[in-house]
Amino acid sequence: MKFPILAYGHPTLRKVAKNITPEYPELQSLIDDMFESMYESNGVGLAAPQIGKSIRLFVIDASSFTEIDDNLSDEEKKQLQGKKVFINAKILEETGNEWAFNEGCLSIPGINEDVERPKKIKIEYYDRNFNKHIEEIDGILARVIQHEYDHLEGILFTDHLSSFKKRLLKRKLENISKGKVNVDYRMKFPKK
Ligand code: NI
Repeated sequence: MKFPILAYGHPTLRKVAKNITPEYPELQSLIDDMFESMYESNGVGLAAPQIGKSIRLFVIDASSFTEIDDNLSDEEKKQLQGKKVFINAKILEETGNEWAFNEGCLSIPGINEDVERPKKIKIEYYDRNFNKHIEEIDGILARVIQHEYDHLEGILFTDHLSSFKKRLLKRKLENISKGKVNVDYRMKFPKK
């Protein structure tokens, strides 16, 4: 089943999401459906709040970055491959220099902006079988995780932009929340 993606302006995108337990109903099919919804909309990550569920769950498949970026080491490419599930994730540490990366978001179609974030993270999370992991991750995968993790905190990538940039984007963002946007996947707009 494919979920519609909540658009910018939807109140659920601004909530702090809650941890879940292994007993969360239909968890495995929810995860599969989130991957399906993500692939359908050509995303590299999708957080549960974006489909209207305020829980600490996000999925990532950043394999496509290995095709568009020729400068990646084999190690980095390997790290980006495959489907990844993060449950009850907690970023324990963010280190390294801030670097700019052009981000986009399925909830904010048509807007891509450079965002500065620290290069490296240490993260604790559970996989889909509720096995606990603590990992240090850097580069693009860390970036995708930081973006998805923000969704659990009710934060969107546009929040990180300068107030000047925010003013420039204000009208565009309002239009997205009103459904005045061209998008080729199913979305749910707050003010329609
Ligand atoms: Ni996003």
